[in-house]
Amino acid sequence: MAIVTGGGRGIGRAAALAFAREGAAVALAARTASELDAVAAEIQRSAGRPLAVPTDVTQESSVAALVDKVLAEFGKVDILLTAAGAATFGNLVDTKTEEWDRMLAVNLRGVFLTCRAVLPPMMRQRRGTIINIVSVAAKRAIPGGGAYAASKHGVLGLTQVLAEEMRPHGIRVGGLYPGAVDTSLWDAVPDPPERSRMLRPEDVAEAALLMASLPPGASLEDVTLLPAGGIL
Ligand SMILES: NC(=O)c1ccc[n+]([C@@H]2O[C@H](COP(=O)([O-])OP(=O)(O)OC[C@H]3O[C@@H](n4cnc5c(N)ncnc54)[C@H](OP(=O)(O)O)[C@@H]3O)[C@@H](O)[C@H]2O)c1
Repeated sequence: MAIVTGGGRGIGRAAALAFAREGAAVALAARTASELDAVAAEIQRSAGRPLAVPTDVTQESSVAALVDKVLAEFGKVDILLTAAGAATFGNLVDTKTEEWDRMLAVNLRGVFLTCRAVLPPMMRQRRGTIINIVSVAAKRAIPGGGAYAASKHGVLGLTQVLAEEMRPHGIRVGGLYPGAVDTSLWDAVPDPPERSRMLRPEDVAEAALLMASLPPGASLEDVTLLPAGGIL
């Protein structure tokens, strides 16, 4: 049973479809119900078990309701993949305080809230896998991405500390750090890199699947996935 935040489109959608293809029941969590319903219908058509749960990951009560609903329906959480996120571009000198706050709320607070919410059931189970979709922006300085980078560096730190804290509980925690992926995240960017050279969401889903499907004694904790052409 997998929870996928951001499961309505982009990387989250591709990961949800990949987990479902491997036989996992998948809870899809994002704000736009119509997108969740469309992915759920796609999973259902191939005989999968989807659960669409409209969720705002920045809201503690919304995230708690998501996990409650999953536990009521499936009784466990094997995998959490956090792909709910957003990006903003602009030099720091021009970054509005509201944009800064929104980046940290969605990309960092959202990951904190969702990870924390699945820990009690995973600790009871004495197993589980958490995969945070981070970004190469957590590892390389990309001019024009200050607020985004700050949020992603935060997720990197959170992910690495959580991996250590959860090791004694049998819970694997890993970060997946993609370069540019061709998703709607780039739609609002004025002059994006050539989209046909970017990774596809399905490429990131394959890496997530590998992280989730290794034998329980092995943990892939730090995966950087770049387009073969090397662009970010
Ligand atoms: N695309 C890239 O080049 C790239 C590269 C590296 C890392 N990433 C990371 O990958 C993750 C997914 O990005 P993507 O490219 O797949 O973008 P996307 O296509 O725009 O998808 C983002 C998803 O996050 C959801 N989301 C946004 N705010 C949310 C909130 N407050 N609560 C719940 N869900 C929320 C969106 O749904 P709603 O709007 O309906 O809520 C959507 O399902 C992000 O963390 C991004 O930073 C992307």
